[in-house]
Amino acid sequence: MKRFKIKTEVCFSENAIDALTEIKGKNAVIFTDSFMASSGAADRIAEKLGNCSSIRIFDKVKPDPPIELVTEGLEFLRNANADVVVALGGGSSIDAAKSVVLMAKRVNPASPIRLIAIPTTSGTGSEVTQFAVITDAQKGVKYPLVDEQLLPDMAILDPSLVMTAPPGITADTGFDVITHALEAYVSKNASDASDALAEKAFELAFEFLPRAFKNGTDYMARDKMHSASCLAGMAFNGVSLGVNHSIAHALGGKLHIPHGRANAILLPHVIAFNADLDGHFGADDTEAAVKYAKLAQRVGLPCTNVRMGVLNLIQELTYMMQMMHIPMTLSEMGIDLEEFELIRPSVVEAALADVCTLTNPKRVSAKRINRILDTIAR
Ligand SMILES: [Fe+2]
Repeated sequence: MKRFKIKTEVCFSENAIDALTEIKGKNAVIFTDSFMASSGAADRIAEKLGNCSSIRIFDKVKPDPPIELVTEGLEFLRNANADVVVALGGGSSIDAAKSVVLMAKRVNPASPIRLIAIPTTSGTGSEVTQFAVITDAQKGVKYPLVDEQLLPDMAILDPSLVMTAPPGITADTGFDVITHALEAYVSKNASDASDALAEKAFELAFEFLPRAFKNGTDYMARDKMHSASCLAGMAFNGVSLGVNHSIAHALGGKLHIPHGRANAILLPHVIAFNADLDGHFGADDTEAAVKYAKLAQRVGLPCTNVRMGVLNLIQELTYMMQMMHIPMTLSEMGIDLEEFELIRPSVVEAALADVCTLTNPKRVSAKRINRILDTIAR
């Protein structure tokens, strides 16, 4: 039996934030970072929440939200007597708010808090997933939380909030979307439902990410990338991800590489691994290879056979990375390789233990992860 559930109501495209005006008589807390607070974005959201009884802003979210922030946020929610939490920002703000609301519900299972996620980057898909990542800053370890209660009640995808994302962030977060779509598509748990979402997400990102990168004010490209991010989030929320994310989580925790960028540098090598490209020709293509080739075909890449489709997909993604100035290796990223060698065993160990490894289409060994790390190092 396969199951697929989507709980979150999604409001999208032009004026989507107007959905906030429908919330009446509640105590609202906006959960965000200092940039969103100082840029006026949080005030814009507060204005739309004008029908609420009270509105307070918690603006202390930092990248890779630490455990201490969740405790502080929980205290803030209690003091505000909040029954609506609006998470405004990138993955960090949304993950932090989700974690705080989860803790509030664990403390009081009857808690009426309604969670609304408003992403300001097109990447994590966190607005529609039951996952959140919090960090133990002292140990340098990222903890993935998985709980149905982490699912927001509503997601608001308003392209006007993404227009100012700089090109580097657009590229990194866009590659996170592409990686979500590809890993969900070849996941061991993939289904017709997740495939439909992953295919559309990939098609949109493939077409509109380069446009959004070249011209941040291209409204249509921003709108479509926001949709792609959300659809890819729905896809992987149902069927999980793969070893690309397992290694990216481990590298991010140890080396503080932006999540999307870590995914991007791994992606060509993980596709080649899953598709069994090393010395393999034709007769028994892996299931993942057939699916990669199907996606290549959907976006118009030459695909006279499966192997050619996979190779063209890898080549095109590599070209996109180069065009968007994404480094191809850790050393290009400025990582000290001697320092990397010191933490390599813990990266391998963390990647093997990561929950995403379970759904990778091919079995993964420490030796294989080391080979992938060799390839991306220099
Ligand atoms: Fe991701």
